[in-house]
Amino acid sequence: MTSKDQLLASLKEKRDDWVSGEFLGQKMDMTRSAIWKHIHKLKEDGYVIESSRRKGYSLRDVPEILLKNEIQEGLNTEIIGRKDIYHHRLADSTNVRAKYLADEGAAEGTVIIAEEQEQGRGRRGRSWFSPEGKGIYVSIILRPGLAPSESPKLTLMAAVAVAEALLSLTSLDVRIKWPNDIMIHGRKLAGILTEISTEMDAVEYVIIGLGLNVNIPYDLFPTDISDMATSIILETGRQFPRIRILKAYLEWLEKYYELFMKSGFGSVLKRWKELSDIIGRQVRIDLVNQSHTGEVLDVDENGVLVLKDLAGTLHRIFSGDVKLLNR
Ligand code: BTN
Repeated sequence: MTSKDQLLASLKEKRDDWVSGEFLGQKMDMTRSAIWKHIHKLKEDGYVIESSRRKGYSLRDVPEILLKNEIQEGLNTEIIGRKDIYHHRLADSTNVRAKYLADEGAAEGTVIIAEEQEQGRGRRGRSWFSPEGKGIYVSIILRPGLAPSESPKLTLMAAVAVAEALLSLTSLDVRIKWPNDIMIHGRKLAGILTEISTEMDAVEYVIIGLGLNVNIPYDLFPTDISDMATSIILETGRQFPRIRILKAYLEWLEKYYELFMKSGFGSVLKRWKELSDIIGRQVRIDLVNQSHTGEVLDVDENGVLVLKDLAGTLHRIFSGDVKLLNR
């Protein structure tokens, strides 16, 4: 813990009450001016701290932003978000930031968050709408030591973790659309972009990027996506604290990651299938240069979609855009 973190913890212990500068100075072995400097920084971060010459300092409010201290408070994980959390007010893309950090050796479980992204990236070269403070834009570095061919499994795993987080906090009717879109009533709430770096025959690291629309009102969505996208505020009519969803996601992700690494993909896939309603459905799948229409027979033990087209031919599809054709 840095001394700024310690100071914040002391203020939080006595939230809304007063803590004298003298007490803080003694507790942390700091001069009054060093304390004042930390208080100043905390205020810059958005903490509302009242100061009084006589009574000291009082924490009145914590910011609505996804700061490391707030995420780690009561976070029930051992790897993910335990140590390094990088918070950006503005980033090009958290996946890009994560890649730089991972290339420099950042540890497994490192979390990169942005309040806003200028170049949020989606799957298949698309962009991800990332307005300030209204969504969760987070990337996580994992180092699972798998064969590259196994990495799609991690994408499905992340989708399960997002769905579980939402189900544990809300009564939303959440579904996963293959491979990793999180949908509510046919509209997209969240997406996952997994990027890997390989070295020889193994995955060096995986970056799991999640974009989740939390408090985005209808009018704010660009017109080209407003009829396909949704957000928690649109579905429930209420603002939702982003931090609660983020923490739940980190915790569920760690649970499923552990399950995956210890017991294999089987139980993750079983849950994925329960949360998705794709098997047995008629779909159209757009690939890079072609599309297939038919029935989804299965998502196999590698996360590959098995489709029987209208002529009865079987296709194994690794990645594409699915459109559900019937209910
Ligand atoms: C999709 O197209 O469905 C995937 C969207 C993934 C968006 C997230 S936001 C955080 C992370 N950083 C990015 O640039 N993209 C991912």
